[in-house]
Amino acid sequence: MIEIKNLSKIYSKSNHKVVALKNINLSIAKGDIYGIIGLSGAGKSSLIRCINRLEEPTDGDIWINGVNIVKLENKELRTARKNISMIFQNFNLFSSKTVFENIAFPLRLIKTPNSIIKEKVNELLKLVELTDKANVYPAQLSGGQKQRVGIARSLASDPDVLLCDEATSALDPKTTKQILSLLKNINEKLGLTIVIITHEMEVIKEICNRVAILEDGCIVEEGPTLDVFTSPESYVTRNLINQDQLLPNEYLKGKVLTLSFTEKSVGEPIISRIVKKFNVEINILYGKIEYIQHKPIGKLTVQINVNDDVLKNIILFSEKNHVQVEVLNQ
Ligand SMILES: Nc1ncnc2c1ncn2[C@@H]1O[C@H](COP(=O)(O)OP(=O)(O)OP(=O)(O)O)[C@@H](O)[C@H]1O
Ligand SMILES: [Mg+2]
Repeated sequence: MIEIKNLSKIYSKSNHKVVALKNINLSIAKGDIYGIIGLSGAGKSSLIRCINRLEEPTDGDIWINGVNIVKLENKELRTARKNISMIFQNFNLFSSKTVFENIAFPLRLIKTPNSIIKEKVNELLKLVELTDKANVYPAQLSGGQKQRVGIARSLASDPDVLLCDEATSALDPKTTKQILSLLKNINEKLGLTIVIITHEMEVIKEICNRVAILEDGCIVEEGPTLDVFTSPESYVTRNLINQDQLLPNEYLKGKVLTLSFTEKSVGEPIISRIVKKFNVEINILYGKIEYIQHKPIGKLTVQINVNDDVLKNIILFSEKNHVQVEVLNQ
């Protein structure tokens, strides 16, 4: 659906250059809700804005439905863009137009007949549950309602792809959940492919089936969200995921491990089995259960006083029982 090949973006200002993206390769399948996460300045906006050519890529190709959009000009580009909609952190609504006219705007641009506009906009208002707000102005809406208008407007041209640049970052956690659930609903109902960029892990956990981690213009890790959460490979990913508070080092004796329980193992008494089998004592430092797309992942950070050989066997035993182990200190 979307194939990004060797994409680079360099901003050149008079005498200095900023390299925002370095040789990005990504593959997004039809129907994916694909998350791209990274810290501020990682290059997220640059990446998503290259996908619809709001930014010009410096190098590389972006194939959407078999068309290399990097190579398109003027009229062809405008046609291709109808297929790629976008929503924004600050909603970008027209303050002097009503909700109805905001949503109708892309249709008026292509001179759609009034009767069709009326039908289409009413259908979209229903989809985003704002039928009663058709004639009010954006200033009279809450943030969540404004983003609903943004979403309805983005769908007016029947796109295949929806790009979301920090679309929930201005919203409170509860409203964020409602907007994410609307996006999920649209993804399922309309088969829309959604690309979400965010700095919030919660957004990725809630709805993205795949995730890429961007750092300093490079993809450092990529995969199904559940896999990346269960066994993160890069230091950056672990930092984004594990923001747990641990005891300071002077209290930690022996080995400190984080055990990740997946759907296959959350129901099993693995800890008590380890205690019995290896005749060890385990001190629990931290524990939590998270839900990634409604599937549980348990994280337990424990301290064990054992030698390296026993530790190796405990790790093998755990992994055999579908528990991933990460040794935090050696
Ligand atoms: N128009 C521009 N001109 C020059 N440099 C830019 C421009 N836009 C972005 N940059 C630089 O490119 C790098 C990546 O910026 P980008 O906005 O893509 O990051 P981001 O991950 O979206 O950050 P944030 O989370 O803060 O929105 C940064 O170093 C930024 O300063
Ligand atoms: Mg940004």
